[in-house]
Amino acid sequence: MKERGGEQKKQQGIGERFQEETKYYPDRMGGHFLDWEHMPERYKSYPNAASRIKLPEAKFSENADLWNVILKRRSVRRYAPELTLSMDILSALLWASQGITAEAGDFQFRTVPSAGALYPIETYLMARAVDGLEQGIYHFRPYAFDLEFIKPGDFSQSLAQAALGQNMVANAQVTFLWTAIVERSKWKYRQRAYRYIYLDAGHIAQNLYLAGTAAGLGICGIGALYDEAVNSLLGVDGIEETVLYMASAGWPAKPGS
Ligand SMILES: Cc1cc2nc3c(=O)[nH]c(=O)nc-3n(C[C@H](O)[C@H](O)[C@H](O)COP(=O)(O)O)c2cc1C
Repeated sequence: MKERGGEQKKQQGIGERFQEETKYYPDRMGGHFLDWEHMPERYKSYPNAASRIKLPEAKFSENADLWNVILKRRSVRRYAPELTLSMDILSALLWASQGITAEAGDFQFRTVPSAGALYPIETYLMARAVDGLEQGIYHFRPYAFDLEFIKPGDFSQSLAQAALGQNMVANAQVTFLWTAIVERSKWKYRQRAYRYIYLDAGHIAQNLYLAGTAAGLGICGIGALYDEAVNSLLGVDGIEETVLYMASAGWPAKPGS
């Protein structure tokens, strides 16, 4: 950036510093020691969850052609609030975004890629109108393929407020909330982990977009959110585990309605 007096000066905002200090350079790589004894837990679970709901096996729309789905994918922000979402479709969305598709020894691989196969992202749902689900906040466990009910209540308005007042969250049948348990990735990648957690979240969201489009739903990614309001709704500390991204999912409103 040109400074007054014509002097070229590097920008010093947090973003530029972050980008610079997390770059890999051939001469700055250091040793790569992995402390296997202290590898963080790969899965989170809530022992005190009010209940656990086993998800039905994910079924797929057989006539959803990938190229057509990619062509049709759009962010949809207007939903028909009176409709409900079936557990079958919810199950397919969760599977597409975080389902386990292969095992190799101790490792499980998922529908989405993840740096180092470390899967730092946790999925929560704010269920507003899902058949068979009481309204509230749920935590998804990929290996058990179930939902842990962690907070009852209708949070559609408060979560919409936490998304800077974006009304789509109040009308969506369900909103996905993605946090990162940073240490899972930091254990291996140190500060560069802060790049990878966002990349992981992007992959997950794109699979949700595509699966939602295939099912006829409207999805909208949401990066504009008051972080601490969402963290506190989920009961996470914002440091060890922190929200990164959300996405609303709902039946599109009829044009002109
Ligand atoms: C990281 C990210 C954050 C986003 N945050 C929001 C958001 O907070 N609110 C919103 O209405 N759309 C949000 N979007 C959706 C974009 O506005 C949308 O993808 C863009 O306008 C292109 O339109 P399309 O998705 O229909 O192709 C976000 C998308 C991404 C990838």
